[in-house]
Amino acid sequence: MAFSRKTIRDIDLKGKRVLLRADYNVPIGAKGEITDDYRIKKSLPTIQYLLEQKCSIIICSHLGRPETPNDLSCTLKPVAKRLGQLLKREVQFANDCIGKETEAAAQALQPGKILLLENLRYYEAEEKNDKEFAKQLAGLAEIFVQDGFGVVHRAHASTEAVTQFLPSVAGLLLENEVDIITDVMENPKRPFMAIVGGAKISDKIDILNRLIDIADVVAVGGAMANTFLLAEGIEVGKSKAEQEDLPLAKEIIEKAKSRSNKGHFIFYLPQDGVVAKSLDKNAQTRIVDWDAHIIAEVENYPKRPPRESGLVAEDEMILDIGPFSGAFIAGSMQLANTVIWNGAMGVTETPSLNGPVGPFAHGTDSIVDAMLGEYGHKPFTVAGGGDTVGYIEDHKLVNQFNHVSTGGGASMELMSGKKLPGVEALLDK
Ligand code: 3PG
Repeated sequence: MAFSRKTIRDIDLKGKRVLLRADYNVPIGAKGEITDDYRIKKSLPTIQYLLEQKCSIIICSHLGRPETPNDLSCTLKPVAKRLGQLLKREVQFANDCIGKETEAAAQALQPGKILLLENLRYYEAEEKNDKEFAKQLAGLAEIFVQDGFGVVHRAHASTEAVTQFLPSVAGLLLENEVDIITDVMENPKRPFMAIVGGAKISDKIDILNRLIDIADVVAVGGAMANTFLLAEGIEVGKSKAEQEDLPLAKEIIEKAKSRSNKGHFIFYLPQDGVVAKSLDKNAQTRIVDWDAHIIAEVENYPKRPPRESGLVAEDEMILDIGPFSGAFIAGSMQLANTVIWNGAMGVTETPSLNGPVGPFAHGTDSIVDAMLGEYGHKPFTVAGGGDTVGYIEDHKLVNQFNHVSTGGGASMELMSGKKLPGVEALLDK
C-alpha cells in the first residue's frame, strides 16, 4: 500500500518558512563528537528539496533524554556543525527551540537559509505533547514537515500536537521508510525470513507475534534466545536471560508450534552457542551444542564426546550463536527472497584479540555475509534497530543492504503493524 499522507511533493512550498522535524538523536562520544551520522545523512534529500523550493528551513529535533534543561551532553550544537559540513553551507544554531530570540532568528531567516533549534527535550512539554509548547513551535513557520521517522512512534508536541496548528506533510525520508517497511511486511517476495536478536523478548513481543503470522522462517538469536532456550528446559548457566519473560517465551513457542503444524513454517532457536566464563576478549571460549549434534570426538572417533560438550556450565554464559546455528541460518537464507534483520546474534561489540572479528561476533558476521550474497544468493534485505544499524555502519555495509532503517522503536512498531501517531497526524493525500 502506497504512503497515504501528503508529502512535500504534494504542496506548494515555494519561498515558504518551513518547520522541519528531523530525528537527530545521534550517538555522541566522550569528546562531544558525533560517532554515527547516518541519521543526519539520511535527512539531506528533504533539506535539499526544500532548498530547491527556496524555503527558509527551521529544523527541530531531540537528542537523548536530558534530565535537566542544562544537560549539555544533549545539546544539538555538534549536529549543526556536521549538518553544515554535509550540506556544504552554513547552518545557524539557536540556543533555544522557543522564545523571543528564537522567534526573531526564525523571522529573520532568508530563503535558502537553515536554522537548527536546540534540543526540544530540554522542555518537559515536548514529551507531554503539550499544546501550548507545540503552538509556540508552530508559530515559527508556515508549514510543518515531519521527516523524523525514528520518532514518529511517539506522540510528542513536535510529532503530534504541532500538526494542529500548521498544514503538516511528510518529508522524503519518512515516506521512503514507511513505504519500504510496509511493503516488505505486506507483500514480501517469498520465502520470507526474519532474523530477530537483541536483549529482551518483551521489547520485541509484538514484532515476533506478527512475524510468526506472516514470515516463512523466524530465526532468533542474541540474549533473547537464552530466554527461549530456558523456556524449552535448556541449561543456560549464567547467560543473560529474563526470568520474568518465561511465560511470554512459552506463549510464543506455542504459537510458533501451532503455525508450524498448519503448514510450512520454521521457528528456529539456536542449537549451539559460543560460551565463556566472562565477557572479555581474553576469555577462553568453547562451543556447546545443546542439541547434541556432535556425535563423536573429532580427535578420537568413534569415542563419544564428554557430557559437558552438550551442556552450558553454571559459571558460563552464551555469548554468540554457534557454527551449526550460523550455518543453518545462513543456509536457509540461500532459499529466502526477502530477509528482515533486527538485532545481533551475539555480543558483537567485544573487540577481537587477533584479527578483525570479535570473539562473539562470528555468528552475526556469518549471517550478514549470507544476507549480502557471499554464498551466491542475495535476498532483498531490510535492516532496522539502533544496534543493528550501528553494526552495519561500523562495517561500512550500509550500501549493500536494500534498506537500512533510521528508526529503532519506530521501525519495530511499523513492522508490528501498529499505527504511528506522527504519521497519522499528517494531512491525508
Ligand atoms: C530513537 O533513537 O529510537 C528515537 O530517536 C526515539 O528516541 P526515544 O526512544 O528517546 O524516544
